[in-house]
Amino acid sequence: MAAKKVVLITGGTAGIGKHTALHLHARGHRVIATGRNEKAMAELRALGIETVALDVTSAESIRSAKDAIDRTTDGHGVDVLVNNAGYGLFGPVEMLSDADVRAQFDTNVFGLLAVTRAFVPQMRARGAGRVINVSSVGGRMVFPLGGVYHATKYAVEALSDALRMELRQFGIRVSVIEPGYIKTEFTATTMGLLRKYEAEGSPYARAMAVAGKADEAIGPLAVGPESVARAIEHAAMSRWPRARYVAPFYNALGPVMLALLPRWLTDWAFRRVAGLDAGAPSVAPRLPAQAA
Ligand SMILES: NC(=O)c1ccc[n+]([C@@H]2O[C@H](COP(=O)([O-])OP(=O)(O)OC[C@H]3O[C@@H](n4cnc5c(N)ncnc54)[C@H](OP(=O)(O)O)[C@@H]3O)[C@@H](O)[C@H]2O)c1
Repeated sequence: MAAKKVVLITGGTAGIGKHTALHLHARGHRVIATGRNEKAMAELRALGIETVALDVTSAESIRSAKDAIDRTTDGHGVDVLVNNAGYGLFGPVEMLSDADVRAQFDTNVFGLLAVTRAFVPQMRARGAGRVINVSSVGGRMVFPLGGVYHATKYAVEALSDALRMELRQFGIRVSVIEPGYIKTEFTATTMGLLRKYEAEGSPYARAMAVAGKADEAIGPLAVGPESVARAIEHAAMSRWPRARYVAPFYNALGPVMLALLPRWLTDWAFRRVAGLDAGAPSVAPRLPAQAA
């Protein structure tokens, strides 16, 4: 086994983060699972996992988590930072409220950035460390009604690419994890948010109805978080961490097919599946100002 590492996981109280915490703890690493849910953290503590309160959207919370970790690690900080906290805001791009869009970026992008900036300086001073950002296969391909969520994950991919090149000179390795459809609390949270936008008479009513049933339709394809935890372990501990890990690996097929097939064809297929085609005019009506 690789030498014991101090691993901080954001969003360590559920789903992928919690499973990764248990996985790395079982392998003897010192895991600090962070999050907002005190009850979930108490359960983790009962299993011998350290916890620290950390809301990634709060500068104050990040500061006090860092202070607490400095105290318990004698100023060492963390060897591995897993930026995992996140959720999915889905709904028509046109309809989502500014507040919801900003909240989505606050957690998935600005939170990840702020936590990274808090913990990287100690890694840089030591000349060693790992930053692992949990993106998504949706960081390389876009489904209708997922525009804002995908935008956050595309942002995570871009930030990770820059960080990977900038931090390598200081001995810090940066990897991106791209999960496919994983059985966690993610879908329940997404569906809860989606419901806010199911207004009667919405021009997107058909697509919203399809999205509302997405879990029934494709839920059986979801797999447990084990492959994601193993990918994170490899990125954290391997001598040769990869820039990107798709988990499970077969989800890599989606972005590859999108790159190979003509865009009109994949757009058509996605519109059909998402309920954005049938019943809608295939060509947008011309506005009077555009008419010849
Ligand atoms: N599940 C999938 O199919 C899938 C696919 C691709 C990518 N991902 C990505 O995987 C990551 C983990 O998601 P998951 O599937 O494990 O979902 P999950 O079961 O809902 O877990 C999400 C975790 O993030 C935490 N979190 C949310 N906002 C936070 C905040 N402001 N501060 C701190 N923690 C916060 C949640 O804590 P609370 O309980 O306090 O909200 C929870 O612990 C996310 O970045 C997600 O985008 C998931």
